[in-house]
Amino acid sequence: MGKGKRVGIVGAGNVGSTVAFILAMNGSCHEIILRDNKIDIAKGKALDMSQAAAAARSHTIVSVAEEPEQLKDCDVVVVTAGSPRLPGMSRDDLLLKNAQITREVVRDIKTYSPNAIIIMVSNPLDAMTYVALRESGFERNRILGMAGILDSSRMAYFIQEKLGYGTGQIRASVMGGHGDDMVPLPRYSTVAGVPLNDLLTDEEIDEIVERTKHGGAEIVSYLKTGSAYYAPAKSTTIMVEAILKDTKQIYPCAVYLDGEYGYSDVVSGVPVSIGANGAEDIINVSLNACERKMFKKSVESVRKLIDTLNENNFFEDCK
Ligand code: LAC
Repeated sequence: MGKGKRVGIVGAGNVGSTVAFILAMNGSCHEIILRDNKIDIAKGKALDMSQAAAAARSHTIVSVAEEPEQLKDCDVVVVTAGSPRLPGMSRDDLLLKNAQITREVVRDIKTYSPNAIIIMVSNPLDAMTYVALRESGFERNRILGMAGILDSSRMAYFIQEKLGYGTGQIRASVMGGHGDDMVPLPRYSTVAGVPLNDLLTDEEIDEIVERTKHGGAEIVSYLKTGSAYYAPAKSTTIMVEAILKDTKQIYPCAVYLDGEYGYSDVVSGVPVSIGANGAEDIINVSLNACERKMFKKSVESVRKLIDTLNENNFFEDCK
């Protein structure tokens, strides 16, 4: 008997478990396998979700991989594992720590789910996507980072809030890395097809752009002890489902650039067509001089993180 679609989720914290819950409720796959260092917590969540699936009459089974080899033959693996920034830890310390965690996770995926498409969610997102690519040695279409859908959704919400109408009809566009230098694109944002510039003043649009750039931090300021997870999880499941259903729809995702937009050997957020093979096509959006400048700054921020990894000889033992 052939196996149904199987999704692995490494890191069963708030984002990972919410991804699992949404997929289970949608019946998006046959099986979801959670993997986390805190095995009992993962088991409790898997049991709870399996019972929710029974209530929802969903066919999805949620289980836990206690050993790395149990996370096997997945079609898609979502990686949310990472350390939060602990007291006394610099940004660079966090970068190196999470790069190390990503390395270990990706090695296991490569061994036990060699055909999987990997969706990175751990921060710093673009750098971790780069690490996953280098560590796995997979073709670049098989490694995607989740951030553009999240950042665009935040922008869409801020547009709706400012307008007071248009819920569910807003297409906001954000490119670049998942950081303060991300590139919201009002010129490519519409409400039911109407350009944003016809609906809001330049000043209002600037406010939306600024708020979008700090959308993650705004939520941390309320939650205090953690970061957002509903919108990050929903954004991730959109990517998972696009792969499982081979939709070939376009979403902004972090991918390795190999000449696109004039950059190479770096990861950034750009519109891609997602299908069964992952990032199947990278779409080249024409940018004006100002947008190009912002995109360059964003790419340079990511490149600095990669440089830090290189300075610490992080990639020396990548094959
Ligand atoms: C956010 C963090 C988690 O944007 O990346 O919410």
